[in-house]
Parts: sequence; C-alpha cells; structure tokens
Amino acid sequence: MLCNQKRRRIFLTTPKARQKPTMNISLSAEKAILSSRPELFDFHGVSMTHYFTDNWENVQNFQARPDDILIATYPKAGTTWVSQILDLLYFGQTCPERQKTIPIYERVPFLEIAIPSLDSGKDLTDKLPTTPRLIKTHFPVQFVPKSFWEQNCRIVYVARNAKDNMVSYFHFDRMNVVEPEAGEWNNYFHRFLEGQMVFGSWYDHVNGWWKKKQTYSNIHYMFYEDMIEDTEREIDQLCSFLGLSRSAEEKKMISGGVQFDNMKKNDMANYSTAPVMDFKISPFMRKGKVGDWKNHFTVAQNDVFDEDYKKMKDPTLQFCTEI
Ligand code: PPS
Repeated sequence: MLCNQKRRRIFLTTPKARQKPTMNISLSAEKAILSSRPELFDFHGVSMTHYFTDNWENVQNFQARPDDILIATYPKAGTTWVSQILDLLYFGQTCPERQKTIPIYERVPFLEIAIPSLDSGKDLTDKLPTTPRLIKTHFPVQFVPKSFWEQNCRIVYVARNAKDNMVSYFHFDRMNVVEPEAGEWNNYFHRFLEGQMVFGSWYDHVNGWWKKKQTYSNIHYMFYEDMIEDTEREIDQLCSFLGLSRSAEEKKMISGGVQFDNMKKNDMANYSTAPVMDFKISPFMRKGKVGDWKNHFTVAQNDVFDEDYKKMKDPTLQFCTEI
C-alpha cells in the first residue's frame, strides 16, 4: 500500500480556521463565495448546485482504477466517519503521519466538488499518491462515472435514517457557505421531503443505491445506526468486504480512535481547517447520535413525515430511527 502524500500550503477564512492552515484560496474567490449562497437547479432530474456540476465533463470522464475504493453517501450520512476508518485500515500502520498532518478532505477527495480557485476534487483525486485511492462522492447512483463500473471498483455506501439525516443536513446548510441557505426549519423539513436538496431526494438516493446493489456485487451497503450500535462489528464487516486481514488489536484501536468524541477533537478529521464552514454557527462534528430528530421534529411534523414515508415501498430496505 502506497501512501506518500505531501501537505500543501494553507490559508483560511474564519478567524478560528486561519490559525490552522489548510488550503490556498484567493481573496477574490473567497469574497465571491462568501457573498452569495448557490441556488438549486434541476440537473438531469436531480436538484444540484453549480459547485457539483461545473466540472461535470471532467468528472464523468474520470478514469477509475480497479483498486480504487469509492465511498458513496447521501450528504450527512456518515461519510467522514467511514472515510477515516478506511484511511486508518489501509494506511494507519504504514503511514501514521498521514492522519496527523493531512485533513480528511485531502486524504479522501470529494470527486465532484469544484470551488473556484481551490483544487477540484477530480484534480485532487488524480494527484492522490496512495494505493488504493479512497474517493468520496455524494452522487446518486446514476451520476457515478462509468469507469467505476467498468473497473468493477469496490464501493462502500453508507445510509442514515431520513429523520436524523435531515436534521444533520439542516445544520450543515446553516454553517456552510457553499450550500444553499437552510432558511427556517419548517420550510427545510418540507423541502427535504420533496427532494429539494443538493444531490436530490434522500429517498431516491438510498433506494437507487440499494437497487444497484442487487445487480453489482461490489457494493457494501452499510448503515450509520449500525456503526453507532457496534463500530467494531462494522469494521470487521468492512475488512471482510475489502479482503483485509487486520489484527483484533488494530481493529479495536481504530474503533476507539474513530469514536465521536475522539474524531471531534481531531483537527485532521473534524473539518475545522475547511475554509467554507462557520463553526460559530454549528460544528461539523455536531452530535453524532441516533434520534436527535426528536429535538427538532414537532409532533405534527412527525405525523407528516410518517405519512410521507409510506412512499418507501421496498420492504427489504429498513432504517431505524432510534436505538
Ligand atoms: S458530509 O459533509 O456529507 O461529508 O458529512 P458526513 O460525514 O456524511 O456526516 C456528518 C455527520 O456524521 C457525524 N459523524 C459521526 N457520528 C458518530 N461518530 C463519528 N465518529 C462521526 N463522525 C461524523 C457528524 O457528527 C454529522 O452528524 P450530526 O448528526 O450532524 O452530528
């Protein structure tokens, strides 16, 4: 496994972030990004913003390699958690410096992101020196570049129950300037049910990937709630899927290191160095719980949600909203 990855030079946006270097961003680009939130628009039937479609051709032409590992999720389903686990499983022993010096969004680039004057996710991925390359995407299954299927790449998909996913996404949209304005909660709640979110409908996303898993055997479909319930068991299952043999001691160590409180303190995993997020509004590592929706949903909203949820027709895809 190869992992030599050099750190790049860094500037930041928020005062807190400026103390911790991470990425170069020009002042004019920074101003443009900060001055307005992006608008949602329909893109091939999915709500998107330009930050994830501007590089469409290049992303669609991305050349995957057979040993690439794609981490696919609907936003806020546990992407960072699984990314950190995979990075540790592959490179924790061979390149321990990597986790201490390189932020997660550079170790595991976000393929489709394109923010002016920052390296695009596609370019970061092309420059990755690791073998395997760990790559993040939020694309619904039909948007995944075809070379991933042609190369029969392994894909780890993480899904999270819709209620907590919605709440997490709401707070993320409040604090992240490259997301559309979150606005007021009740309005957000209805937009989520209608699929008016970046990367589209949660329902279409989790169902689309679930359906794909029936015909493409190299997808490991996992659940955020299972990771909360028993992280070590989920790491074991990841190892089986990836064909990795790791000692019980190593897996235990990884499981301990990626528990919420530890990852929240870890500046290379908690996005505190990311230039577009305002932690004064909400931290990236916010609560890390199953059931936080109960602190947000009114009784009436819960009734509306449960009625609407009847559109989830496939009885084989089940989520739990409390543990
Ligand atoms: S993103 O922006 O789409 O990549 O976000 P993503 O990483 O998918 O999701 C962020 C939510 O995952 C929680 N998280 C964790 N929960 C438990 N344990 C660990 N280690 C962990 N790491 C990240 C994070 O806190 C966000 O959920 P909320 O509910 O907002 O706290």
